[in-house]
Amino acid sequence: MARILTGIQSTGTPHLGNLLGAIIPAIELSKDLKNESLFFIADLHSFTTIRDPRMLKENTYATAAAWLAFGFDTDNNLFYRQSDVTEVCELTWYLNCFARFNRLQLAHSFKDKLDRITDINAGLFTYPVLMAADILLYDSNIIPVGKDQVQHLEMTRDIASRLNHVFPNTLVLPELKVDERVMLIPGTDGQKMSKSYNNVVDIFLSEKKLRKQIMSIKTDSTPIESSKDPERCNVFKLYKLLASDVQAFELKEKYEKGNYGYGDAKQALFELVCNKYKNERAKFNHLMQNKEILDLELTKGAEKARVIARSVLKRVRRNIGY
Ligand code: TRP
Repeated sequence: MARILTGIQSTGTPHLGNLLGAIIPAIELSKDLKNESLFFIADLHSFTTIRDPRMLKENTYATAAAWLAFGFDTDNNLFYRQSDVTEVCELTWYLNCFARFNRLQLAHSFKDKLDRITDINAGLFTYPVLMAADILLYDSNIIPVGKDQVQHLEMTRDIASRLNHVFPNTLVLPELKVDERVMLIPGTDGQKMSKSYNNVVDIFLSEKKLRKQIMSIKTDSTPIESSKDPERCNVFKLYKLLASDVQAFELKEKYEKGNYGYGDAKQALFELVCNKYKNERAKFNHLMQNKEILDLELTKGAEKARVIARSVLKRVRRNIGY
């Protein structure tokens, strides 16, 4: 049996990029009963930037609700909030003492934040060490990630092997599984969809707001009458990711034939999102209005996670001399 671990930072309601790139593939993978899937909400990582207690909580709920709305099975897998299993902070310390300063300085994600964020705190700097602890605390075997997380995973393996070199057989080295599709989900401006670029499509919004977001997708100024190249249009790219082959083919024809405006394509995309995710949208809203269900799920998950965390930490403490 392989233990698969996925974490997602709770910076807001998961958007279409998170869903297609991480959440839906992870849920698919978790359906294979040969595997045990651990999914957690990285709310300690969020604390590097979020200073509003209400928002911190609300983001966690929204993330949890999205996973449950898309059918994550919490009976056969583990579903928990990072901050509920504080053992991760203790392991982070031990790992900090094996993490190379120079290597942390080279992290792309940190360098990227240096350029964009004014409050550069040490939490941002040691972010990859907490991430390593997330993984190593559960003897995880496989970590499915997008390309942007590959370097973090390499750091996890580096830290773990450095510690194992001094204290043999202490940590289990995880393997990374890179999903190439993750980077291909374009936002409303054509760049990678990301909250920090302000270009997301949030499928859990009310219809009115969702429509507005989709209408804001950037397109070129080809006139309505002209034939258009679907492959160069952000609206079509998103449509194709969600539609059946037949639907995508039909829309492609409309683009090429002309007399079909980008506004029409956006309306088609809006309708597709609403139809395709009708049940998930309803379930998400139900959970967000009944947060006690989410609390119950997260409490149940934390109890299960703590059992693994404690036994791994016990082994670590024993091996390193505490
Ligand atoms: N850094 C990851 C991201 O931004 C989130 C994360 C935190 C994570 N801890 C993890 C992912 C452990 C996988 C494993 O997407």
